Amino acid sequence: MSIVIRSVGSALPAGVVMNADLPASLETNDEWIKARTGIAQRYIAGEGETTSTLAIDAARNALENAGITAGDIDGIILATTTPDLTFPSVATMVQRALGVPAGTMAMDVQAVCAGFIYAIGTADALLRAGRMKRALVIGAETMSRILNWEDRSTCVLFGDGAGALVMEADDTVDLDHRGIIDLQMNADGTLIDMLHTDGGPSTTQTVGHLHMAGKEVFRHAVEKMSGAVLTLLDRHGFSPDDVKWYVPHQANQRILAAVAARIGAPPERFISTVAHHANTSAASVPLALHHLEQTGELKRGDLMVMAGLGGGLAWGATLVRW
Ligand code: UT7
Repeated sequence: MSIVIRSVGSALPAGVVMNADLPASLETNDEWIKARTGIAQRYIAGEGETTSTLAIDAARNALENAGITAGDIDGIILATTTPDLTFPSVATMVQRALGVPAGTMAMDVQAVCAGFIYAIGTADALLRAGRMKRALVIGAETMSRILNWEDRSTCVLFGDGAGALVMEADDTVDLDHRGIIDLQMNADGTLIDMLHTDGGPSTTQTVGHLHMAGKEVFRHAVEKMSGAVLTLLDRHGFSPDDVKWYVPHQANQRILAAVAARIGAPPERFISTVAHHANTSAASVPLALHHLEQTGELKRGDLMVMAGLGGGLAWGATLVRW
């Protein structure tokens, strides 16, 4: 039996904000943002758009692409740091909107920009254990709603969006042909101050704003994402060159280049959507994966890696035979 990714879907807000559209009061510019991050634009949720509306659209898209209906789903795992409400979970909002049968499980996972890897890891474990047969695994964010729009060192970096997978236990294939080969989830709580919000329900009763020590997070992102990927490859006797596609968290083009250099993989195998989406936290990996899938270049049997790192710090990676 293998745990396979059957389909991918995604959704973006209607509104695009180019670098040049950012408020003049930020004293930033297109040249600085492109040179330091690779970001050219980001999608920003407008009125009526929330994390759940984006998640619902992405999940619907993944269901269509799988050729199945909501009735075929028996679990929803949704990664987000920007839920519509403190509770209930966004996953239950998706369950209701799509008509996923009542009584199936639905929950949110919170590991910030590593959230999608954690969501895949949670779904993989539950599917493997036979607790569910087919799951919607979603990463959805409206990071724009927790940014300090007067802090140019953070607000230019993020965007909103959602991506979704249908994952299922398939007893007709084996791992030499298809499926999640391995996955690791890591965290180091001694680094919580490096990337955090300054508010929350139990402290300030507000959501707070995002703060980041950019240079330090950059260094850890390169070190920890490369480390996680190399550990997975080593464990299975693969070399970086055996991997056809790398789908990393999209925070900064310079991070992607540094990870590629550090693990010794050709940079052109690193999927990059950072220019168009900016950093969409838990949504960035599935958005990049859907982009890759839509190019038509991702083929059945290709070896691929997904990886992410974010607040916590929390990070992780997964090795997949597509
Ligand atoms: O998703 C979770 C993971 N997040 C990440 O992985 C993000 C990791 N960090 C980064 O991507 C980068 O560190 C940043 C993009 C955040 C910053 O790039 P940097 O090359 O590390 O720049 P810096 O923070 O050293 O800032 C350099 C200069 C500073 O000016 P001074 O002190 O040298 O005069 C900043 O004030 O750039 C200035 N600056 C800006 N200038 C124009 C900072 N933000 C801006 C801006 N526009 N938006």
